[in-house]
Amino acid sequence: HTSLKTFPENFLWGGSTSAYQVEGAWNEDGKGPSVVDMANHVEGVTDFKVTSDHYHHYKEDVALFAEMGFKAYRFSIAWTRIFPEGTGEVNQKGVEFYHNLIDEIKQHNMEPIVTMYHFDLPYALQQQGGWANRAMVDAFEQYAQVLFNEYGDKVTYWLTINEQNMMILHGDAIGTLDPSLKDPKKDLYQQNHHMLVAQAKAMKMCHDKLPHAKIGPAPNIVSIYPATSKPEDILAADNYVAIRNWLYLDMAVFGKYNHVVWSYLEENGWTPVIQDGDMEILKGAKPDFIAFNYYTSQTVQESTGDEEDKQGTGDQHLTIGETGVFKGAKNQHLKTNEFGWEIDPVGFRTTLRQIYSRYGLPLIVTETGLGAFDKLEEGDKVHDEYRIDFLRKHLEQMQLAISDGVEVFGFCPWSAIDLVSTHQGISKRYGFIYVNRDEFELLDMRRIRKDSFYWYQKVIKTNGQDI
Ligand code: BG6
Repeated sequence: HTSLKTFPENFLWGGSTSAYQVEGAWNEDGKGPSVVDMANHVEGVTDFKVTSDHYHHYKEDVALFAEMGFKAYRFSIAWTRIFPEGTGEVNQKGVEFYHNLIDEIKQHNMEPIVTMYHFDLPYALQQQGGWANRAMVDAFEQYAQVLFNEYGDKVTYWLTINEQNMMILHGDAIGTLDPSLKDPKKDLYQQNHHMLVAQAKAMKMCHDKLPHAKIGPAPNIVSIYPATSKPEDILAADNYVAIRNWLYLDMAVFGKYNHVVWSYLEENGWTPVIQDGDMEILKGAKPDFIAFNYYTSQTVQESTGDEEDKQGTGDQHLTIGETGVFKGAKNQHLKTNEFGWEIDPVGFRTTLRQIYSRYGLPLIVTETGLGAFDKLEEGDKVHDEYRIDFLRKHLEQMQLAISDGVEVFGFCPWSAIDLVSTHQGISKRYGFIYVNRDEFELLDMRRIRKDSFYWYQKVIKTNGQDI
């Protein structure tokens, strides 16, 4: 481009968190346990019991977000605070907490962006089979109804399910898959179908009840590159993009199963049970926008038949693959972060363009960011220039995508404040604000503005002119 378009007026600059990673107070005020509280799935790093203790620090935290200039704050509601058992009795104290949080956000002139469900499924529901159980559709509907009734007049932006695609592809990562299952994929695609129906019902309910509100899905969507120009590699990339990305959004937007994925499910015997009326429900619901999370692109090559059939999370590029479908590959052109994740700002532009070209809906970025071992230095300084560099490069590419004509209305990087990473503890920090605790020692939990805090403040103040 010879000239760049500026960021739109009223652009939603903000930051993101999720309940189980930031709130702590895991069993306070009537909260029930969730799968992440019970899973104990990560050894050698902190659990999710106290995290950043945002539950008790929310006023201070929201004030800091406002000081940074946030126009929006994306957070999730812990289902287990509203319904400790997943369904049944509503816990008023939990309901009250989110009223207080939302009021606090609004008093600071920020837009609350609410994720209804971010990985922390009520444990009671998991014990009844979790998402593989059809009853989950009703449970989610009941939960959605309470959220819309309680917060509907205060919240404009709703996100249904965070990274549904990651929950299905990495089914064993957060305690929502029965490890004894012989054919986990069959179970996972049944879970997926139930989530899709539940999401469609929630989107429709939102539109019926709250005409002013906007709602959309929030998957993790990234560009998929073929490792070479070999036609078989291109085909592998085409397979993977359908399985990883389009399955979820084609259903949310067009109300239909992606044909490539459906054939793949049929061939493997993984097609879900679809009840009468499901396809009408799925067709009858439409999102107002697409929210998505992006950390890195992925590169794949032809499957040579020795795939581990594993959807790894850590060094993801080497461990993903399915025999006959695709195989993960390293991208020789990209550097990695301290945790082995490739860094690809240009892929971010491509991703924005691809999603917009396919669906034509406004986009909001609900996560991107850099996990790093930050160091607290004397005088309460955290010099996280690597994070600034990461975010700057992604913002530059986002502006290029906007200049390509892509409609983007918000940017909420991960994370507004330090929190406990899903797999790698508190030491893998993402925030603009440092929380003074260690992996196992809580210390004084004080909040410290990192260098990136001041940088982001300037970005927002100039509406992205000075990045
Ligand atoms: C996304 C999730 O998958 O990535 C977040 O929505 C998560 O909950 C984030 O924390 C970063 O992943 P990790 O494993 O580094 O925490």
